[in-house]
Amino acid sequence: SLCREGSDIFTSVRENSPTGEFISSINITAGPRANTIRLCLSGRNANWFYLEGRTIRLNSSVFRVLDREQVEGSVLIAELICYENDIIQGNYRILVEILNENDNKPNFLLETIQPFTISELTAVNSVVFTVKAVDADGDMISYIIDPSSDAQFFRIDLPNTGKVVLNKPLDYETRTHLQLIMWAQVESNTVDKFNTSAVLNINIEDGDDQYPHFLPCTPVSPGVPVCMNPTYTTNITQKHQDVGLDFSPGPITAEDGDKGINAPLTYTILSDDQGRFTINNTTGEIQVDDRLKYSVASVLVRVLYENAFPPAFNRTTYKGFIIQSSSPASIVSTYGNQVLQVQVSDRDFPDGRNPNIHYLLHPPSELYQVTKEGVLIAKTNQLRAFDRQILQQVIARDEESGEEVSASVDIEVLQRGQAVPSGAFKEQQLFGDVDSTLAGGIAVLIL
Ligand SMILES: *[C@@H]1O[C@H](CO)[C@@H](O)[C@H](O)[C@H]1NC(C)=O
Ligand SMILES: *[C@@H]1O[C@H](CO)[C@@H](O)[C@H](O)[C@H]1NC(C)=O
Ligand SMILES: *[C@@H]1O[C@H](CO)[C@@H](O)[C@H](O)[C@H]1NC(C)=O
Ligand SMILES: *[C@@H]1O[C@H](CO)[C@@H](O)[C@H](O)[C@H]1NC(C)=O
Ligand SMILES: *[C@@H]1O[C@H](CO)[C@@H](O)[C@H](O)[C@H]1NC(C)=O
Repeated sequence: SLCREGSDIFTSVRENSPTGEFISSINITAGPRANTIRLCLSGRNANWFYLEGRTIRLNSSVFRVLDREQVEGSVLIAELICYENDIIQGNYRILVEILNENDNKPNFLLETIQPFTISELTAVNSVVFTVKAVDADGDMISYIIDPSSDAQFFRIDLPNTGKVVLNKPLDYETRTHLQLIMWAQVESNTVDKFNTSAVLNINIEDGDDQYPHFLPCTPVSPGVPVCMNPTYTTNITQKHQDVGLDFSPGPITAEDGDKGINAPLTYTILSDDQGRFTINNTTGEIQVDDRLKYSVASVLVRVLYENAFPPAFNRTTYKGFIIQSSSPASIVSTYGNQVLQVQVSDRDFPDGRNPNIHYLLHPPSELYQVTKEGVLIAKTNQLRAFDRQILQQVIARDEESGEEVSASVDIEVLQRGQAVPSGAFKEQQLFGDVDSTLAGGIAVLIL
């Protein structure tokens, strides 16, 4: 039988080959009586082939590309059946191996590119995560970190492993989230390297690395998450006891620098003038879980004088004189020929002297000034002899309590050489004895 001349066919074809690609010739020679011979393809993958005379060709199309990755075992299996006068006389196996071409993009395994969380305390140079991509062609894949986004935090030491190493320290307090673009690229000799990219989202978890700080936080410089602790200040009145203190710029309160952990804090007073103060330990300082993490702030408590009595001038009108001269400044004197000093006494103070008193003239005078000791200074060269001037109000103000009292001053301007009147004014009392050097000093100051 002519059919007996045939043989099994073992060959190969490249994947993606075009239709009509030569597969094999059939060595059944057709003699003059060849019309009695009929060849036929059958079997599992027979529709991938067609016969053209005594040649087997590839039956593919643009809609049906031969793809090694789609065919079971990467081998096309069929049979060639040879009929002679419609009787099967030969049956040959066809096995065509599909040769691989690099025609697939790699794909990241989804479970390796999920968002994940790492601690800010993760050691630099340690592997923080591993990505993996596969490619249907089974090619070697290399992994690359795209230089965009937060690439500087990571690196890959061994390009084929997908192991991503931490390149620089993380800091939850400045960044809580990083983003990275990774490429997986097929290693091949072809010009076009198939690649694919994935975006990785990395959350940073707060580690316990920060000290607590008092609020409000004033950063030491813009963008630096280190606070300058405030100094809390408050006023308390003498002799007050068992009162809660209201502080400025706000209540004494601190927070954990690790905001993501927010460990509970306790507060203690480190040193206190004779144990006069107590603090509620749950609304204060020193971290409970780590006594080495603490912060210290100062508290300034200003003790105010108890104010039961207003200050008082012991005259409603003070009397004095000044001698007109070419001198630009002289001190007003009493008729007892001493420095006139208007002064208040304050019974809240054992010696009657309230250190917070400030004297001023109201309305302000062009010709007179009053010093903080209550001494009056005149611009002598601008005065006219025989004038009499009434300073309506010398005000004494308690700068602490804000209380004000006033008195008037009646000043006579004498001519140079004129005798100083006396007698009638003998009852004029002097308060305090202003040192003449001090008075001179004041005059010099005004000059
Ligand atoms: C070639 O393949 C097409 C499907 O794309 C099929 O319809 C046709 O029958 C095949 N031809 C042969 C000769 O098997
Ligand atoms: C990925 O492939 C594209 C197209 O070939 C190319 O332009 C790009 O540079 C490749 N990316 C990398 C990281 O190699
Ligand atoms: C305390 O008293 C001083 C002087 O009287 C005042 O200037 C300051 O504002 C007061 N501070 C507070 C916190 O009340
Ligand atoms: C805080 O004070 C309370 C009552 O004074 C005390 O029982 C508690 O032990 C204190 N806690 C700490 C952490 O010091
Ligand atoms: C005026 O006050 C002072 C104390 O500042 C006192 O020594 C003096 O006696 C008082 N004078 C009169 C007249 O009350």
